Amino acid sequence: MEEKKKVIFSGIQPSGNLTIGNYFGALKNWVKLQDKYDCYFCVVDLHAITVRQEPKDLRRRTLEVLAIYLAAGIDPEKNTIFIQSHVPTHCEAAWLLNCFTYVGELERMTQYKSKSKKYENGGSISAGLLNYPVLMAADILIYNADLVPVGKDQTQHVELTRDIAERFNNLYSPTFTMPEAYIPEDGAKIMDLQDPTKKMSKSSDNPNSYILIMDKPEDIKRKINRCVTDSIGKVKYNDDQPGVKNLINIMSAVTGMSHEEIEKKYEGKGYAEFKNDTAEALIGELKPIQDKVNAFLQDKKYLEDIYKKGAEKAYYVSSKVLRKMQKKIGFIPVSK
Ligand code: TYM
Repeated sequence: MEEKKKVIFSGIQPSGNLTIGNYFGALKNWVKLQDKYDCYFCVVDLHAITVRQEPKDLRRRTLEVLAIYLAAGIDPEKNTIFIQSHVPTHCEAAWLLNCFTYVGELERMTQYKSKSKKYENGGSISAGLLNYPVLMAADILIYNADLVPVGKDQTQHVELTRDIAERFNNLYSPTFTMPEAYIPEDGAKIMDLQDPTKKMSKSSDNPNSYILIMDKPEDIKRKINRCVTDSIGKVKYNDDQPGVKNLINIMSAVTGMSHEEIEKKYEGKGYAEFKNDTAEALIGELKPIQDKVNAFLQDKKYLEDIYKKGAEKAYYVSSKVLRKMQKKIGFIPVSK
């Protein structure tokens, strides 16, 4: 008998244009996992509205993220690809799980602490920003996901998901699978090009600090050439040279070369050649993806077919788990 495949859930917010951090931290890894697992890849638009979005930009980016999934090599025949807001079970489960999550736990989340700092006096921080990890927990738990492939910055949220799941399971009876974060080796944390002690982020104010998946080759070259390194002048992988370390990680994530191989290749050479090669390698990886994204975006009907089919399957699967949750909590089932 064929063994049941383990389940994967992951998603990316359409809250800005995607960076190579999203690509190496998440997407590229997903592509590698799609044959072995039963995968749900979601465009998490409900997460994006925790901060204000221009409606027309949100619409455009949501489709673009979907096109990027496909262009990166996620096969719609093998995987369930969908848009979060099309599947109402996510919000329903999030409300239930909210009642099993403590405010203190949410206030301790590093991402919440850093994002909420941007709002003076705390007056205009939306409750959504605080509650967002509960929605993420719902995303994962209603598919009984075993693995969650994400970058390092999301591990704390997956830990919280496990805590919530365990609490619910202990209070009632086993309901949820315990999910585990799955972190890539090299792209786990791509750093900001201008301040390599910070994570590269699509919400940064300075466009020179990130590279977008859709950046033009000349922009990629310029950004890498200008990225902050150091005055040591040696291509070495260590914490005293965070800028160089970041470029080695990028090079390694693109080419599959080990850190040692890269160090050896550039021994006795300055940064210029190393930066140039890193930019060329990145362009070589991204250009075919960009061309495919543009082609997919021309075919809205094809995209619609994929996200409609994906939403149907996602709804079917997640409704079963949601009904289990409702029953255990004590809600009266809707009669058929
Ligand atoms: P988001 O949209 O911020 O990022 C999407 C994915 O990209 C990874 N990532 C990075 N990886 C390496 N280096 C970086 N600089 C970098 N920046 C981003 C993130 O770790 C993530 O894997 N809450 C999530 C989205 C989400 C989700 C989920 C993920 C919602 N529900 C359920 C997994 C499962 C988020 O905001 O990711």
